[in-house]
Amino acid sequence: MTDRQSDPARQAGRLRTITQHIMEQQRAHPTATGDFSLLLGGLTLATRMISANVRRAGIAGVLGTTGDINVQGEVVQKLDDIADTAIRRCLHYRESCGVLASEEAPEPTVLEHPNGVGKYILIYDPLDGSSNIDVDVSVGTIFSVLQRTTFETGKNAVLKDVLQPGVKQIAAGYVIYGSSTVLVYTTGAGVHMFTLDPMIGAYILAAENLKMPEVGKMYSTNEANLDSYPEGIKKYLAWCKTKDAGPYTSRYIGSLVADFHRTLLKGGVFIYPSTAKAPKGKLRLMCEANPMAFIAEQAGGMASDGKMRILDKQPGELHERTPLIIGSKKDVQRILDLCEKHGA
Ligand code: AHG
Ligand code: MN
Ligand code: MN
Repeated sequence: MTDRQSDPARQAGRLRTITQHIMEQQRAHPTATGDFSLLLGGLTLATRMISANVRRAGIAGVLGTTGDINVQGEVVQKLDDIADTAIRRCLHYRESCGVLASEEAPEPTVLEHPNGVGKYILIYDPLDGSSNIDVDVSVGTIFSVLQRTTFETGKNAVLKDVLQPGVKQIAAGYVIYGSSTVLVYTTGAGVHMFTLDPMIGAYILAAENLKMPEVGKMYSTNEANLDSYPEGIKKYLAWCKTKDAGPYTSRYIGSLVADFHRTLLKGGVFIYPSTAKAPKGKLRLMCEANPMAFIAEQAGGMASDGKMRILDKQPGELHERTPLIIGSKKDVQRILDLCEKHGA
């Protein structure tokens, strides 16, 4: 006799939402408390709001810039602002969240709750790939979760809590607002992917324990900057075009979320090294490189700045930049060997 749970027909048609998935993961780690589920619940709500805004951007009149320049010296798009506000609104009252650190804000915000300060730190890029918003190309949200270590107050104490290396992340993920809205996350126990069903507003499990191919046939970089790339990277890109390498193909979207998502699913490598314009690299260590590096490693890939593992880098400041080489293990390793020989 089959009961409802073990009935194969029912199993085959089983839909799992992200809420259910997070709870199952939590049960597998008995030390975990419900606080973490609450934090992720706030985040998924915010990304559903952002997704709705992105989908209706042209109609709702939210394309274009706000006229402001952010702490990074970059033009703020209306959707950057909308996304940042959505995350703040959804996380502000969740007691589990103690500190919010946004790419768009110069300093982290400490959230005071009636019972003290929450134990998690959320570092995020509310809208990644803003230059692609007005031309209907995929954009995303990236997040990294750390735990507070001191709970002391005062600007420097808070910064001390925030400035932890990526290896200390307890969760990381991103949402891509692409041909569909997809969320990918890890808590250090594999990489899991969900698709937003816009009709019912729920993220439904699409794939569990994703693995990146060991080697790929795609490289992704802004080759317009090639002249000022480090020698090792130039040598790699020249190699990709030789007969020896076999046919490589080039793909570059200009939204890290989209370029990384493709690399995760199809394999290959994404490279944003130091350039003449951005001598320390362009991407942000804490809200872009670290979360992607955590996911890449969990999926069997690698992430480096050309000299060291991204996750081991000790940040000196919240908005620190880094060169980034991320993707399939063998591709990244080939680049690192060339960087060691010719310079990174
Ligand atoms: P953001 O829109 O959050 O500022 O990030 C833009 C980043 C990243 O998404 C992308 O990989 C990179 O900028 C593209 O830079 P280039 O235009 O220099 O290629
Ligand atoms: Mn970004
Ligand atoms: Mn951004």
